[in-house]
Order: sequence, then structure tokens, then C-alpha cells
Amino acid sequence: MDALALGNLFAGIKKKTKVVVVSNRQPWFHERVADGIRAFRPASGLVTALEPIIEAVGGTWIAHGSASADRLVVDRKNRVRLPEQNPRFTLRRVWLTPKEEEGYYYGISNKALWPLCHIVYTKPRFSRKDWEIYRDVNKRFSDTVLDEVGDSPAIVFIQDYHLALLPRYLRNARPDLKLVHFWHIPWPNREAFRIFPWSEEILDGLLGNDLLGFHIQYHCNNFLDTVEKTMEAMVDYENFSIYRGGRPTYIRPFPISVDFKQIGIDAQSAAVQDKKESFIRELGPGAEETKIYVGADRIDYTKGIPERLRGFDLLLQRNPDLKKKVTMLQLAAPSRTQIEEYGRINDEIENLLEEINRRHGTDSWKPVHFLRAHHDYYAVIAAYLMADVVMVTSLHDGMNLVAKEFVAARTDGDGVLLLSQYTGAARDLTDAVLINPYDTDQVADAMLQAFRMPETERRQRMARMRAQVEKDNIYEWGRKIFEELLKRVHFGKSRSEAMRASRAGSVIQRLNPHLAAVKFLTLRCSSAILKKVHARLTGNGVMS
Ligand code: F6P
Repeated sequence: MDALALGNLFAGIKKKTKVVVVSNRQPWFHERVADGIRAFRPASGLVTALEPIIEAVGGTWIAHGSASADRLVVDRKNRVRLPEQNPRFTLRRVWLTPKEEEGYYYGISNKALWPLCHIVYTKPRFSRKDWEIYRDVNKRFSDTVLDEVGDSPAIVFIQDYHLALLPRYLRNARPDLKLVHFWHIPWPNREAFRIFPWSEEILDGLLGNDLLGFHIQYHCNNFLDTVEKTMEAMVDYENFSIYRGGRPTYIRPFPISVDFKQIGIDAQSAAVQDKKESFIRELGPGAEETKIYVGADRIDYTKGIPERLRGFDLLLQRNPDLKKKVTMLQLAAPSRTQIEEYGRINDEIENLLEEINRRHGTDSWKPVHFLRAHHDYYAVIAAYLMADVVMVTSLHDGMNLVAKEFVAARTDGDGVLLLSQYTGAARDLTDAVLINPYDTDQVADAMLQAFRMPETERRQRMARMRAQVEKDNIYEWGRKIFEELLKRVHFGKSRSEAMRASRAGSVIQRLNPHLAAVKFLTLRCSSAILKKVHARLTGNGVMS
């Protein structure tokens, strides 16, 4: 599947139906620079994956406009056509006040849901005030979607944990909309999830969708189990669906991916070559002759950056002969810095860097180069091309697209991937060297294994990984999601038919507890009658 084929798949549907993508993070942001305003792409797996899809399909992407020049480039409806050079979709920006951003993005999304869903032993923090703001912001997104679609039929493709209430608000307002939601992070087991104070409300929000996708089956199972034990709903484990309010939500795994072909093309571009040269200058003379271990992450406590540094430290302690033969290049994008835990992870990294470079460094060789900045797409690809080894050491990750991007970029067929077994990507890229990042000895061993791996083995592994990412590329992900939607929902249903069905559904929902009670009493009565009949027949007394 490629961009053209996905575009064609949509061409038929799109004649009558609008396509709207909704996420918190925008695919492009506009900043003031010395010579005017420039558009940048954020460091985000979600954007890497979704942008090729919206470019292929067309439509509108609704997201939070948060950068310094975002307001300066939009029209009266807050819209801007993108990408600038060759516009193929519309971005519509939603504005939030600092207080709203604090409660919705930093508060519920990243202090509560992010640590709750990633099991990395960072305590989630909950605040009722933040929850109220999260609700309001989800309503704002709902109003924007409704305004964007007008009276037309539409497919709304919602992204991630920032917008968990949006599907219910949309469903209530427009029962005929086709709602798909992809949850980009893990869904934890029910034991972990049950501490979320507004669990019923958030689950009900997500059950407004027709289709809800996770990266892997395990997260789907966790979701079904969470719903079954938390609320009034019929969970069907055979069809992986949940009925609430008389209508189903289908829960399915869709492992996300990248634009394999385009990344391969971009890897040959002049922009990548320029970035490569600037990294070589940055690393200093001689570094290019060493084996280069590359990391590229947002600075986040889920990414296992300290664990990777400790592994590298141990590698050098145990193998002093590797000094001046290896170099670590870490691209590190600052992220969510207002949150305390992110401040702490930054301090921890700073201390480790200082310690490792002091312990092992020499006048002519610096073991770890930690480039703390936002690195654009071409810079990240350049780093992958320079790498002998790419390290993905997440403590927990829904998928992790660094792993797949690296594989796609390596058109030369060489390079080793060290990959945490706690990522979704580990299920797809089984030819990576899989590691438990909590086990520092194992990380150091894997780094040594990568150093010593013969070229033939590296190439064989890389060839198999490339074949996997090429086959299950991002367009294939899009195709699977939309074909599943087409299979599950009835596209011919008019708005009034959908309204009637929805009203019937809410009557069933209201009656549900009573129906359950009637069912329970019927069962009790019939079993009592049966017992009595049995006692008569056998002559035994019955204790009731
Ligand atoms: O992939 C998970 C995710 O939260 C995306 O939703 C997001 O785009 C990315 O990580 C980066 O996070 P943020 O948007 O908070 O910078």
C-alpha cells in the first residue's frame, strides 16, 4: 500500500464525506525567526505517522495552536494550508489560554494519564480542577469539529489521550458521524487504571467511538477488561467489541508505522547531507572513525535515557579498550519541562553525563555528545545514517517510531538496532537486539554485541527489518483502520436515522440496570422453582 492507493481508497468515500483528523499536537508550528516566520515539524511520533496519511487523503487537521507565530499565518477561521511548499491539507488551529493548557495538557494529559498508562513507576497526579478544564477543552475541540463538518457526513479520526471525552461529545451531538480513535500510548491493566478518579467518565467518552485502536492486542485486552470491571456495558470478547447505549465500539490492534519509501528518499537529500556534516563537525576530529551509538528522543522519563547512559558507562568500565573506539550521540528534544518529574529526569541525565564524560573522556575524545535541542526531521535522519548502532531503551512505549524510522532510513542495509522489549516495535522488529533496559548489565552486553556483530549478520538482520517496515508501512496502517471502519459502520445511514437509533440506544442504556435486575430475579425464581420440583421428586427438603 502506498500514498496513491490510500488516496484512491478514499476518493470514493470523500465525494460526500468530510475527513477530519483531531489531535492535541499540530503537524506544523510557526515560529518567528530572524528573517520572518518559519514552519517546523514537532518531535512527535504521532505527527511522523499521521502527516503522510492526511497528505494522501486530504481533509482538515484540527489541533492546538501553541507556537509564537501560529496566529499570524491563519485566516479568519483559524485555518492554514500545509505543507507550505505543496499544500495538500488544511490545518485548523484551536487556541487555549495558559490556564487551559495547564489543566488539560500538563495536568490531566501529562501528569495523570501519561504516567498512568506507561508503567514506569512514576506516580500519576490527579486534580479535580484540572479534570474540569480537560472536560471544557474537549468540549472546545468538539465545537470546532462540529463547526468544521457543518451538516455534512464525516469521518472524524481522533488521536490519543488528550481527547478521550471528545468522541462522546461528538456522538451526542451528531450520532451519524463516523468516529475512529487511535490511542498512541499503552493501555494499562485494570489494576493500574482503577485509581483514575473519573474512570467511568473517561471510558464512556471513548465508547462514543465506532472504532478504537491500540498498537497491540495486549492493550486491547486490557481495555476490554477495564471496561468490564468498571462500568455497565456489554463486553464481547469474541468480537472484541463493547456495547454501551445500544451501540457497539470495536476494539482493534493497528501497529503504527512510518512512510518507508519517503524516508528512504529523504535520506538521500541535500538537507540530510548538510546535517550530517554539521554533526561531524560537532563530534570533532576522529569521532567518525569510532562506532557511533545514536539515540533520538524527547527527554521523557519513559524513554530510558539514564538507563542507556548507565549501560554505556558500564560498557566502557568493563571494556577500557573500547575507549576512543565508540562515541554516543544523543539527540534530545526538551519536552514538558514545566512538569516536576521532567525537571528531575533532566537533572539525573545532567549528573550522569558529567560523571561519564569525566570518568572516561580524554583530551582528544568525549564519550557522550548530548545535543539538547529540537532537531528537525532531516537532522534525525542524518543521525540515523551516521549510526553504527541506534538505541531505543524505552521503559514502556506504545510503539516507538524511532526504531522504524531508523530502519527505513538505512537504504545501505547496514546498522544495528538495540530495542527495548517493552515497546510495541519489539513485536514487529524481532531482528533487533532486544533488551530489558532496567538490566544495566544486559544493556552493556547488548552494546558490546552490537560493537562486535559481523557485517553479514548486521545486514541479514537489517534486511529482514526493512522488509517488515516496507510491508507494514504507514499507508497499510491507514488502510487497515479505514477498511475496518467501512466493514463495521453503515455509511448509508442518514442523520435522522442515526438520531432515532441513538435515542433508542439511550432508552436501552437507561433501562439496562432494570433489565439486569429482572434477569437476575428471573434466574433466582427459576432456580428456586427447579429446586422445589427436585425436592418434591427426590423427597429432600429445600433450604432457601
Ligand atoms: O506518541 C505519544 C505522544 O504523546 C504523542 O501524542 C505526542 O505527539 C508525542 O508523544 C509527543 O508528546 P507531546 O505532544 O506532548 O510533545
